[in-house]
Amino acid sequence: IGPSRFVNFPVADFTIEAERNAFPDSIATVRARMGGEVPLFINGKDVVTSDRLESYNPADPSEIVGSVCQAGVTEVDIAIEAASDAYLSWRDVAPEKRAEVLFKAAQYLKDTIHELCALQVLEVGKQWDQAHADVSEAIDFLEYYAREMIRFGKPRRMGRAPGEMSQLFYQGKGVAAVIAPWNFPLAISVGMVSAAIASGCSVVYKPAGISSCVGHNLVEMWKAAGLPDGVFNYCPGRGSVMGDHLVDHPDVSVIAFTGSMEVGLRIQERAAKVQPGQQQCKRVIAEMGGKNGTIIDDDADLDEAVLGVLYAAFGFQGQKCSACSRVIVLDSIYDRFIERLTEAAKSVKLGPSENPANYMGPVADKAAQKNVLRYIRIAEEEGNVLVKREVSDDLKATGGCYVPLTIVDGITKDHRIAQEEVFGPVLSVMRAKNMDEALDIANSTRFALTGAIYTRSPANLERASREFRVGNLYLNKPSVGALVERHAFGGFKMSGVGSKAGGPDYLLQFMDPRLVCENT
Ligand code: SER
Repeated sequence: IGPSRFVNFPVADFTIEAERNAFPDSIATVRARMGGEVPLFINGKDVVTSDRLESYNPADPSEIVGSVCQAGVTEVDIAIEAASDAYLSWRDVAPEKRAEVLFKAAQYLKDTIHELCALQVLEVGKQWDQAHADVSEAIDFLEYYAREMIRFGKPRRMGRAPGEMSQLFYQGKGVAAVIAPWNFPLAISVGMVSAAIASGCSVVYKPAGISSCVGHNLVEMWKAAGLPDGVFNYCPGRGSVMGDHLVDHPDVSVIAFTGSMEVGLRIQERAAKVQPGQQQCKRVIAEMGGKNGTIIDDDADLDEAVLGVLYAAFGFQGQKCSACSRVIVLDSIYDRFIERLTEAAKSVKLGPSENPANYMGPVADKAAQKNVLRYIRIAEEEGNVLVKREVSDDLKATGGCYVPLTIVDGITKDHRIAQEEVFGPVLSVMRAKNMDEALDIANSTRFALTGAIYTRSPANLERASREFRVGNLYLNKPSVGALVERHAFGGFKMSGVGSKAGGPDYLLQFMDPRLVCENT
């Protein structure tokens, strides 16, 4: 008998007192022990380097979360060598055994969930519920990919020709370089890394600089799961120092990346160039940006639509590739919707994510703050400001990475704020005279990641399903918060290449199919 059917890990229930109390308690515990040195982890051993990057709390940059050792090209070379050796035995470990390691890793995350959440609150400014959703998604990836590998692990008989036994099966491609983002610092890291490991690849993992302490959770997780040395290597480092080197290395077979379009395109270009000594074509899986639209039809349920847009645009400060950054409103409902949206946006509390009363907190770091402020200036030049809400002067004085919650209208397709990904709490409102125009606006960017529509019209739901051309479309629900399997996630056009994370084709990207035919 195999494992039970996959189900998503339950969402946090803050009506339960123990769950409510677990968060401040865990934040206090994690806060008391953080701030120390975070070593690399290569071939089963900690490696200390002299170059360090201090990861800080975006609500209070004077609070250091960890002093993270930075890999240079030498450490990357050592990690790739270790991963290449480990690959040779890991690829031949039975798929069910590899799956077992993932199940153990999932158990470790379940057992330590509150402290894992607390670290995200402190390192990247996630709200409690957002942090819990991230760790839950990491658990889901492990549970789902383990089952997927068991499914793919059974050789498949091809044809039924007499006198012949022909079987198709899969083998891990080799060393995978996993380059992860900071916005889902555990979930997306665990997702890409565990897919590679389940498939029989070994991994050199580069977390994002500003979430490297959360990234280090993977070291503890794989140790607890009993993964052999060298199969997983933790290599934080500066992109400018070791990023290209990792991508260009001739012994890397797969590059799994989630991040900006600019970096994703650069990786694809570099990976296409064959290096001296390279033995295989590199596969790039790149999940990139979005400029996601939500359409509000004239018969939409505004109770749902207002809250849905607010959450999709400003949850975790809008720092999700799935975030709603354009709301496209039908003319006849425009004034009513805008009035309610602006009222709602003015009612939410702003401040540190550590306090659950606050709906929106600081953005991830000072660079993100600077970038979002630049886009807010562009939005102000291009449109009319409906809402621009800042934190109190007291909070500003703490030096936290706050930016105003911003809504502008009067935006049209050709404005920069309607086309460029901001990755922050900036929402553009666009007016459409009818559904034809709304769909035209919705599809008018080079991205195709997520989208949503609020309507009571069955005909418009059906039409949007066909004509609103994005990777993940949500009908009468927000465009964020994809769950593993139920909302297998990923886009196309300039939003990325590769099949959907948490979906049934994902592992295939990390494997080479082989066929053996015997004359019987
Ligand atoms: N999967 C996330 C979401 O759906 C985005 O990466 O919000």
